[in-house]
Amino acid sequence: MGRLEDKVAVITGAGRGIGREIAMLMASEGARVVVNDLGGNTDGTGTGKSADDVVAEIKTAGGEAVSNTESIAETRGGESLLQTALDNFGGMDILVNNAGILRDKTIFNMEEADWDAVINVHLRGHYCCSRPFAKYIRQNNRTGCRIINFSSVSGLYGNFGQANYGAAKAGIAGFSRVLALELAKYGCTVNTISPGALTRMTIPLRENRGEEVGEEDMETGGPQHVAPICAWLATEEAAGITSQIFHTGRGGVGIMQQPVVIKQFRKTEGTWSLDELDRCVPQLLEAKKANEEAAKETGKMNDW
Ligand SMILES: NC(=O)c1ccc[n+]([C@@H]2O[C@H](COP(=O)([O-])OP(=O)(O)OC[C@H]3O[C@@H](n4cnc5c(N)ncnc54)[C@H](O)[C@@H]3O)[C@@H](O)[C@H]2O)c1
Repeated sequence: MGRLEDKVAVITGAGRGIGREIAMLMASEGARVVVNDLGGNTDGTGTGKSADDVVAEIKTAGGEAVSNTESIAETRGGESLLQTALDNFGGMDILVNNAGILRDKTIFNMEEADWDAVINVHLRGHYCCSRPFAKYIRQNNRTGCRIINFSSVSGLYGNFGQANYGAAKAGIAGFSRVLALELAKYGCTVNTISPGALTRMTIPLRENRGEEVGEEDMETGGPQHVAPICAWLATEEAAGITSQIFHTGRGGVGIMQQPVVIKQFRKTEGTWSLDELDRCVPQLLEAKKANEEAAKETGKMNDW
């Protein structure tokens, strides 16, 4: 008996890469899966039938799946995911907001179209797909549902040349924290993944540095390493785990610290003078540095 038997999972951008692995794993655990993918290029242009290929693979392996090729950056596309799940499987329990594109440029060269395209697929896409599902959960009092969102260190740490992508990915972390609060009453958890995997999105970055990506690299760093924690978060065992950010890839699974005030001083009278801030701010920075050093130590990879 699979861990996701009787569950219906919708995975966006599941025609390749990380999404495909999640769809395959969830299906092998008994979930009936809606495989969404527009099938386009990394920059968001074009369309294709990669979703159908993944559905065929799942069926060959004995699972149940159906494809959906709508763009999740559109309200209509987001609504169609729920409809596809209802029409084919009679319900929906799990939403994985994984679809993504890239248009890397520095702010000097980033045209409005590059900004909009990336924000639309990532941040707006999360909204377009989550809203119909959230309303469905509330209207039907459907318990035990799950939303799993996709952020990135690009937004959580910052990365040169990715102002659009980084803004969207940081926004997704904020979006997830709010949704976790709003859906808690209905027993739906909302967690965020910060993945690292060799896919068509990241392989070119390696190749641009003159590094070849071979079979062995794919084995140790491929998207199959991201899928397990996503599938696990959808199981009964993960009930109550919400508003967390899991960092995963290359055999690692970790949890991220979230924004928190680590030190503060209070003026008991009046407002801060700039001279006082000359003395205060260095102490704050010192405390932050100590906190980061400690996190670096505990965040080191431990063998399992
Ligand atoms: N690979 C990494 O190291 C990495 C790191 C951080 C974050 N991520 C995030 O993980 C997710 C998956 O990335 P990946 O590496 O598997 O990339 P990928 O390019 O292999 O897969 C992304 C999929 O999303 C689909 N897609 C794009 N726009 C869509 C739309 N409007 N509607 C429906 N489908 C659409 C694409 O067709 C593609 O199949 C993305 O959100 C990405 O930003 C990946």
